[in-house]
Amino acid sequence: MSKRVLLIVGGGIAAYKSLELVRLLSKSGIATTAILTKAGAQFVTPLSLSSLTGDKVYQDLFSLTDESEMGHIELSRVADLIVVAPATADLMAKAAHGLANDLASTTLLATDTPVLMAPAMNVRMWLHPATQRNLATLKGDGVTFIGPNEGDMACGEYGPGRMAEPGEIAAAIRKQLGALDAARPLAGKSALVTSGPTHEPIDPVRYIANRSSGKQGHAIAAALAALGARVTLVSGPVGVPTPPGVTFVPVETAREMLAACEAALPADIAVCAAAVADWRVADAGAEKIKKDGKDVPPLALVENPDILATLSRHPFRRPRLVIGFAAETENVVPYARAKRAKKGCDWIVANDVSPETGVMGGEDNTVILVSESGEETWPKLPKTEVAARLAARIADHFS
Ligand code: C5P
Repeated sequence: MSKRVLLIVGGGIAAYKSLELVRLLSKSGIATTAILTKAGAQFVTPLSLSSLTGDKVYQDLFSLTDESEMGHIELSRVADLIVVAPATADLMAKAAHGLANDLASTTLLATDTPVLMAPAMNVRMWLHPATQRNLATLKGDGVTFIGPNEGDMACGEYGPGRMAEPGEIAAAIRKQLGALDAARPLAGKSALVTSGPTHEPIDPVRYIANRSSGKQGHAIAAALAALGARVTLVSGPVGVPTPPGVTFVPVETAREMLAACEAALPADIAVCAAAVADWRVADAGAEKIKKDGKDVPPLALVENPDILATLSRHPFRRPRLVIGFAAETENVVPYARAKRAKKGCDWIVANDVSPETGVMGGEDNTVILVSESGEETWPKLPKTEVAARLAARIADHFS
């Protein structure tokens, strides 16, 4: 089964319908892992749920075995979608307010996995302004809802509050998983992104560096991850935050960056956005160089490895698509073309980094995408937008 739902079964008479839901999902090839709340366990047994899911049923926030097998954060990460059915008034209120005092509510707070709720409660509880407020809050937070339906209720009243039927919930789940697939065209692909400057030591306290902020590289890592790619971001020292959902490998020098990149192979995609120092000091001293008032210390430089060229010409693990950057201050396109050939990469993202453009360290970038088939000039865009466009082009390339 390629898709997995984390099903949170809350405490309501409709909980029995969740058993049927698990069966329907399984028939559609969707696996289920279940969390059963304390109240939910008053309506269905862990045994019946685990028989249908074929998996352990998670119940306790503080279970030593669960924490060692799979922590509550991990639980949500392995799922493509979290489904709360029945979503009781209490579970909705907790989720809307960010309470986290049991496994279900903690899991909902500790995740960025999409959430679908199937509310089930007494009609007056549903119509109560507090529940309607919570509903609006949760919708604002991106939670989607199926139901509740109108009809006779177990409590003898009539109105909205019945949980949607298992078939309706299963259809909503399939639809949402389908939409997620469409929004994640790079799911199943792995990407390696380099970002930031490198620092090349002169002695233990001094180094050679450059003005790269890492904004563009980090934005590319975030954009690829947003399209579903598994991203390893290898970055030199930067002040920008690590995007969520990427594996971050901090490095300092070009040689460390190369080693980290090679360790991250195989990868389908490599985007080298780092401003790697071309040279390093030949013999970086182990001790601080002292001023002796007479001689200026000679700093002999040696060339650093070229990471982009190494990945592009990797004998057996060349990523299928290798993209480099060309930061130039003049003749941008001819230099970019020459760089593409010299490095052996597939695409070059060329940009003018003359000081007057404000690209280095700035928020915007104007780039020209140079590939085998020609060149494309993009308008001036925020770096995040350049990243989103590039990620979309990469997804197109693989589709
Ligand atoms: O040769 P130049 O530095 O202009 O090339 C820029 C491109 O090459 C960028 O994609 C940069 O990340 C990459 N590069 C590299 N390793 C180096 C130098 C540059 O990966 N040592």
